[in-house]
Amino acid sequence: MASMNLKGKKAFIAGIGDDQGYGWAIAKSLAESGADIIIGTWTPIVKIFTQSWNLGKFDESRRLSNGNLMEYLKVYPLDAAFDKPEDVPQEIKENKRYQDASGYTISEVAAQVEKDFGKIDILVHALANGPEVKKPLLETSRQGYLSAISSSSYSFIGLLQQFGPRMNPHASTISLTYIASERAIPGYGGGMSSAKAALESDTKMLAFEAGRKWGIRVNTISAGPLRSRAARAIGFIDSMIAYSEANAPLVKSMEAEEVGNAACFLASPLASAITGVTLYVDNGLHAMGLAVDSPALILPQEGA
Ligand SMILES: NC(=O)c1ccc[n+]([C@@H]2O[C@H](COP(=O)([O-])OP(=O)(O)OC[C@H]3O[C@@H](n4cnc5c(N)ncnc54)[C@H](O)[C@@H]3O)[C@@H](O)[C@H]2O)c1
Repeated sequence: MASMNLKGKKAFIAGIGDDQGYGWAIAKSLAESGADIIIGTWTPIVKIFTQSWNLGKFDESRRLSNGNLMEYLKVYPLDAAFDKPEDVPQEIKENKRYQDASGYTISEVAAQVEKDFGKIDILVHALANGPEVKKPLLETSRQGYLSAISSSSYSFIGLLQQFGPRMNPHASTISLTYIASERAIPGYGGGMSSAKAALESDTKMLAFEAGRKWGIRVNTISAGPLRSRAARAIGFIDSMIAYSEANAPLVKSMEAEEVGNAACFLASPLASAITGVTLYVDNGLHAMGLAVDSPALILPQEGA
């Protein structure tokens, strides 16, 4: 019988920069199930991430249920906005946060991972970036919009193109999306809502293409609000969390671990027939058509 046991499986998780985000939570759940963890961290923050790790700042969050600390095989600098070295503009190459780094484009990272560890079994895309996210869509520039799509949606295609041939049979890929793809969420601007819509649509198309080509599964998790670094930068995460707690079917806080566990299931043989899916892990908020805490809402008395 299939199980969540991922012993002997290798997972590459793109988009871990600290211990606060969904990438970390997914890594931890995969490690709990026995997978080996390989990390791709955005090039400008690799140093701070590895320094913090080495200084023990993440030790508490690294603790697994068996008492051991989560380990990784290697951290790779990655900028998922670039597919190959020729794509990196001169100004980025000369930027002081990139100067000492090399081999951080998607194709270089994928080739190096294969050289170091052979083929992988699980690919996680836990990254997004929209430089104009705070601007309403109506005020978003073409450049800001395309940049959001490039970093947050195309980056998954780029990763799958490169890792697909470097994945073992029955491999699984997972990305993270948000309900703003299909419902208007004021404040989630800059083309980020469009980027998530693209990511969800691509999940279906890529499930077909990667399924036929390599037998790889492609799924995305539509996650509830989490106080990650990226979400804090957008500026209204605390009220999104409060809104969710006031209106979702399940009256409880949303833990990053719950998304980690769902990702672990999707990556495991238990989900061997699941592909092309957007799986909501959001306390059920997506199912609501009304904000039940709205003062404008007067519901009929039960039984009246
Ligand atoms: N936090 C939420 O409420 C929420 C809800 C639903 C979906 N998500 C999604 O979860 C995923 C993870 O985000 P998070 O909220 O956990 O925040 P996070 O800050 O932990 O993760 C985002 C990561 O993306 C990295 N990144 C940005 N641009 C990059 C690039 N060009 N190349 C490589 N890495 C890059 C950042 O350095 C960061 O580590 C994102 O796709 C996000 O949209 C988040």
